[in-house]
Amino acid sequence: MSTRAIYPGSFDPVTLGHLDIIHRSANIVDELYVAVLNNQQKNPLFSVEERVEMLKETTATLSNVIVTSFQGLLVDFAKRVDARLIIRGIRAITDFEYELQMAQTNRIMEHGLDTMFLTSSLEYSYLSSSTVKEVAMLGGDISHFVVPAVARKTREKFCERS
Ligand code: COA
Repeated sequence: MSTRAIYPGSFDPVTLGHLDIIHRSANIVDELYVAVLNNQQKNPLFSVEERVEMLKETTATLSNVIVTSFQGLLVDFAKRVDARLIIRGIRAITDFEYELQMAQTNRIMEHGLDTMFLTSSLEYSYLSSSTVKEVAMLGGDISHFVVPAVARKTREKFCERS
């Protein structure tokens, strides 16, 4: 039986930390859905379409990765694509409580939907999309945090805005 998993998130924008989790997960499961949450409550820098596009570009070499978006409950999306596994990255102990709460809630809502945690690689354990955006907004170098195409698009966004 093949394993189909979902790696959900906001990816605003995708960082090297996310890519680390995507590459490692794609080596573990047969098929990986990288699913961008269309979250009305957040005020993202990039549209869902732009985030999906950036993820497609940065994962183009991974043949078992499918990039898509979803809105509503993650458990409903998992049912739609027939996935029984969610993957999340844990960067530090501070991520754990929130992640545990989500994993337990999802498992209660959809019995049999499990969450697998990957510890993020040490060099990315400090990284978040907000940090990337803040550094870019203040004119700093974000090349250590994102791939060149994403760095360019992030800089362009802030140029458009100013
Ligand atoms: N490397 C770098 N950064 C990482 C990371 C990693 N490995 N893992 C997480 N992050 C960062 C993200 O960049 C993001 O940073 P930001 O807050 O500065 O933007 C932050 O951690 C958390 O983002 P993300 O992983 O995208 O999660 P989220 O909290 O935005 O969304 C969902 C999590 C999508 C899984 C969750 O909200 C969800 O399932 N929503 C659907 C609705 C639902 O089902 N709700 C009930 C859930 S119980």
